[in-house]
Amino acid sequence: MGKQQRYSCTACGATHSKWSGRCEACGAWNAIVEEAPLSAGPASKGLGGARGARVALSDLASAEAPPPRTVSGLAEFDRVLGGGLVDGSAILVGGDPGIGKSTLLLQAAAKLAQAGLPTVYVSGEEAAAQIRMRARRLGLGAAPVRLAAETNLRDILTTLDAERPRLAIIDSIQTMWLDTVESAPGSVAQVRAAAHELTTFAKRRGISVIMVGHVTKDGQIAGPRVVEHMVDTVLYFEGERGHQFRILRAVKNRFGPADEIGVFEMTGDGLTEVANPSALFLSGRETPTPGSVVFAGIEGTRPVLCEIQALVAPTPHAQPRRSAVGLDGGRLAMILAVLEARCGVPFTGLDVYLNVAGGLRVTEPAADLAVAAALLSAREDTELPLDTVVFGEISLSGAVRPVGQTETRLKEARKLGFARAILPEGSKTGASDGEPVQAIPDLPTLAGDIFGAG
Ligand code: TYD
Ligand code: MG
Repeated sequence: MGKQQRYSCTACGATHSKWSGRCEACGAWNAIVEEAPLSAGPASKGLGGARGARVALSDLASAEAPPPRTVSGLAEFDRVLGGGLVDGSAILVGGDPGIGKSTLLLQAAAKLAQAGLPTVYVSGEEAAAQIRMRARRLGLGAAPVRLAAETNLRDILTTLDAERPRLAIIDSIQTMWLDTVESAPGSVAQVRAAAHELTTFAKRRGISVIMVGHVTKDGQIAGPRVVEHMVDTVLYFEGERGHQFRILRAVKNRFGPADEIGVFEMTGDGLTEVANPSALFLSGRETPTPGSVVFAGIEGTRPVLCEIQALVAPTPHAQPRRSAVGLDGGRLAMILAVLEARCGVPFTGLDVYLNVAGGLRVTEPAADLAVAAALLSAREDTELPLDTVVFGEISLSGAVRPVGQTETRLKEARKLGFARAILPEGSKTGASDGEPVQAIPDLPTLAGDIFGAG
């Protein structure tokens, strides 16, 4: 068999037989690079007649104890992991550079070490002195975390094998390199091989490994998506650089619910936990404002109330602007189209800006009705009472559909002093007799009865 050229996408890791400017798998531009084949081992020659060893098989019904976990005491971090760190698990923490990944993991490492879990922190980006300085600044100078500044993965694994910690933090996977792989550190081949070594090491030795992965803009460096499929748990640390709020989100978790979020605030003394995110996302609302609507959402296992803001203004441009921060742009386009087609409320010639306050990113379809209400409120210059929450899914026909966990949403709203709710007809509201709940069957009812539009 002749030597085959391989090209892979540094954004998503897809492999291609030839180079092209745009990755067909994920759509990223200028992300495809040539790479040396991972190995020219026996696999490429086929297994031939060699006999493998017999693999032990077990029953589906065998009883399994829940995996042992260590609780760090950093409650928002433990929650996102599904109730603590599972022994021997491989975890990826992705996020933009400078968002606070190293800070978060140093704090988590210190907490876990203080809770009795022998912990090693390996940095390929900073000198040990720098990390020590940060730890001191965070008031964690005395935590029994063992430090190393190293990028040679062979040496790191040898050290971990001798040291036998229970947790190893690798910051970051893009700086690690294996001498068995020819490409440069940060390349798809290196990142993938390094993550594979670390993941199998974690399983074999029962040592938990947390890898940091920078989200990259530059196509030459592989991003965290390249290793997502290898690890047990994928967390993303999100937030606006100018904002102090940070959200740790589980996008994949073999040991807990995905979509769980933990909320933190970046302060001068590191990250502090935000126990009541609803109160935080709603702070600063004193007077009713057109375009401002409170959405009663669910993030993971917990209800989170947040403010959705819309601004609608005549456009000076030939092509009106549609801008959404914290919400999918396609979802906004769909809601605008339904408002136009089913309610006779046109947005032609109008710029539309939508924003989820506090830097939260909302992905639930249940937010549709709140988004529509914010758009109508802004367009008609009519505000909703301050103590109103809104939720419900909109279908293309203009119908408003019930969503899950109605009672959980209402309970959180009541707890925070919201007395009214606009929600889909047919929602199971439980024991909310006498509560001013407005159940609506479709979008034209919202537009006409509540905002006098259409
Ligand atoms: P860092 O954890 O280094 O980010 P990452 O590892 O994701 O690249 O944090 C970077 C930013 O956080 C840095 O710009 C300064 C800020 N920061 C604080 O505001 N307070 C603090 O206590 C610390 C340690 C960092
Ligand atoms: Mg860092």
